[in-house]
Order: sequence, then structure tokens, then C-alpha cells
Amino acid sequence: MARGWLEEAGLEVEVDEAGNLFGHVQVPGTGTRRIWTGSHLDTVPQGGKFDGALGVVAAIEAVERAGRGTVAIFRDEERGCAGGRALVSRGALPDAFLEVHIEQGPRLADAGAPLGVVSGVVGVSRGTIVIEGHAGHAGTTPMDARDDALVKAAEVVLRIRETASAIDGAVATVGELAVEPGAVNVIPSRVTFSIDARAPDSERCQQLIDALGFEPTYRTSPAQMAPELRGVLRAEIEARGLPVVELASGAGHDAAVLAAAGVPSAMLFVRSLNGGVSHSPDELSSEEDVALAVDVLAATLARL
Ligand code: GLV
Ligand code: MN
Ligand code: MN
Repeated sequence: MARGWLEEAGLEVEVDEAGNLFGHVQVPGTGTRRIWTGSHLDTVPQGGKFDGALGVVAAIEAVERAGRGTVAIFRDEERGCAGGRALVSRGALPDAFLEVHIEQGPRLADAGAPLGVVSGVVGVSRGTIVIEGHAGHAGTTPMDARDDALVKAAEVVLRIRETASAIDGAVATVGELAVEPGAVNVIPSRVTFSIDARAPDSERCQQLIDALGFEPTYRTSPAQMAPELRGVLRAEIEARGLPVVELASGAGHDAAVLAAAGVPSAMLFVRSLNGGVSHSPDELSSEEDVALAVDVLAATLARL
């Protein structure tokens, strides 16, 4: 489907080994820099329609309008930026990357601003924690003779919340949990759960990992967005008489993966409605705000 959108926009389609999809302008513009813009099309279970997809459709419209640039549609972002990371490991990188994305929070709405310029993106560390206990009969094992893995895991989950709360700007989440053997009348013998821990800079990322005491199996570095590109976005927002708001992103993005690999990158956030809810079907931005974002993106592409 996305391929069809790129073709309809008159772009030359390319798919790389990792399944990332690109749409290049067929007649290159006047610039020699390779400027990419885009986002991802995958989503989370019971997710919304805007996270990722908004940046893809905005990119197609803006590249078509500006007559320059490349649309980049990254594969498999939500589970750990697999497409973006594969691209980085191959070294096939652009000279700059711009990503439009729904804010996924309430700050722009609180500030009365339709758009925002991202200053930086948090570092994300993920891993798995396994808690062992002993299986036993739910009816015949006295309460003081149990070694219940789920009760122990519950205590660890509460400690994770306290640990993250004690570090400024840090968050940690347990979002997946598997209980074995998983029967209504058996004391749990093993619990395996995920941990997702985030902080705004490298120091706090390491502090959080050490305090939580887990071995990350997945890690992205915190990334600063490029000052030059942020300046162009700010100027384009200001030129439309809109308030200029800069904000950090607590969500991970392909722009952060590219920025950490040395690609000057920037993100334009679009105001979230419905209290800023995201990773939910209630995720929403208005048509007017989306139109402004496309205008700003197209004008930015024309200037680079
Ligand atoms: C992506 O949505 C993430 O931040 O997990
Ligand atoms: Mn996203
Ligand atoms: Mn997401």
C-alpha cells in the first residue's frame, strides 16, 4: 500500500535488505545533499493511527510538493527500530533526516502550540528479568511454606517504580509478564518479565540501569537533534505566526537511531489531542495541525 502511495506521488521506489522502503524524487532538485524524511508504519497492539504513519504521509506529501528529498519508511520501529538499526549497520546513511511525529503527550496542547521542535530523544534500555520460585499446590501449601515467584516478582516491579522515580527524568516500565506454569491452582514457579528503562542523557541511563540491576539486551543512546535543522524548523514555525516550543521526546524514534550514528537529524512534533494519549486508539491530531506540519516540512526541505 505504501509503495502505491510513493508511486502515485511520482517517486522512484527502492526497498533495502532490511525491508525499509524509500521514495526518491526522480529528477533531483538543485541541492546535492541527500535529505531524507519519514517515519514508520508498524504500530503497537491496540495502537492509534498517528504514531509513525503521520510522519510517513507527511513526508510523501512534502517531498512531492518540494520536488526534492527522499521519503524513508522504516521497518519494525516499535519493537526496537530494527529497520533503522540495520540501515546504520550497513552505513547507507543520508546527509540529514527529518521526522514528523505526533507528540504522544500533552505539552503542546498545554502550551497552545500546534507544532513543536524536538531538542533530544531519551536513551532506551530493555531487558528481561527472571524470578524463580517453587511450584506447589494452591490448596495444600500453607502460606508460610511458599516460594511464590509471582509474589516475589510483584515486589520487584514495585521496586522498579521507586527506583525510576528517584532519578530525575527517568522512567521504567514492566509491560510483559509470563507466569509459569500458569495454572489457576498452582503456585507460580517462574516469572519472566520485560523491563523498559529510559532517561534523557547517558549518565542517567547508566545510573538507572545500575540501580535497577539488569543487563540490557537492547539499548539506544540518548540523542541530541541537530542545531542547524532545529533552527530551520523554528524559523518556519515562527514565519507562520505560531508559538515556538522546544521539547524533549520520551518516546524512541528512528531519528534518534540515525542521530546517534552521526546523521544530523531533527523532529517536528504535531500537537496530540485527547490529553496526549498515545499507543491507544484514542491517539489524535487535528487536520489543521497536520496541514501546518506538512507546510513546515515542505518549506524546510526546500531550504536544505
Ligand atoms: C516507541 O513508541 C517507543 O518509544 O517505545
Ligand atoms: Mn513512533
Ligand atoms: Mn510508538
